[in-house]
Amino acid sequence: MAYTRKNVTALTRAERRRFVDALLRVKRRGEYDEFVRTHIEYYTSDGENGLRAAHMAPSFLPWHRRFLLELERALRRVDPSVTVPYWDWTRDRTPVSAPWTEDLMGGNGRRSDRQVTTGPFAYAHGAWTINEGVTDGKFLTRDLGRARDPIDLPTRSELDRALKDPAYDSAPWDSTVTRGFRNKLEGWGTGRGSVSWRNHNRVHRWVGGAMVGGASVNDPVFWLHHAFVDLQWSRWQRRHRGARYLPASPPGAGDPQHGRVVARHQRMPPWDVTPDELEDVSRIYRYA
Ligand code: CU
Ligand code: CU
Repeated sequence: MAYTRKNVTALTRAERRRFVDALLRVKRRGEYDEFVRTHIEYYTSDGENGLRAAHMAPSFLPWHRRFLLELERALRRVDPSVTVPYWDWTRDRTPVSAPWTEDLMGGNGRRSDRQVTTGPFAYAHGAWTINEGVTDGKFLTRDLGRARDPIDLPTRSELDRALKDPAYDSAPWDSTVTRGFRNKLEGWGTGRGSVSWRNHNRVHRWVGGAMVGGASVNDPVFWLHHAFVDLQWSRWQRRHRGARYLPASPPGAGDPQHGRVVARHQRMPPWDVTPDELEDVSRIYRYA
């Protein structure tokens, strides 16, 4: 039987506690930091050489889908009732709305050093030390809305612009494509600075602190954000019946993207799974 991922605002008090407890237990067992390391390892950009599996590439969606499933499996090993909730940032748009409450993600970072001091992931509570970071900071940081240079979360209409695109992705399959659902959702836009961050990328920037960069998994809101991004893939499929993951076959030997992107039936590292196998997850979970 497929299990359900819920909107974080729909969780009962007990469900919130069990979700947070499961995260803390997975962290205590050392498993959580393995997720952080994996994400850092796969944080390759299209300015670098080699295969891009996780970002700036078509497999952005299946890669994070599988990554989320792995975390969810780890959580369900410690508490089989837990699933990853999603944060609908088109509705819950302020630093005091869900999921920034004391019993879930905790609140904003304090002004002086952006340290998160409230909620279960506050450093002082002793259960959430950053071990795998791109800096030496031991505490979780946030700068919700970017106090010094404010930006807003993406809007419903910006998300709709991505969902409207009937093509999953298009050549050259990187961060520069202006056509295709994948990059419109991943959010590498044109222009400089904050105007170029759209949808998924813009949310990482809006949260700020640890959520910016390869070690963003250190902020557990990463999973709530990516569950909502994952939900958009399902919505896009429903809206464009028969539309499939692209590219269907690998770019040829003369193509600059040869060997740099994962095609529909190719293995997507670090797992032994193809994008094709992750297009339909209705037997594993569904969204409420
Ligand atoms: Cu990522
Ligand atoms: Cu992300």
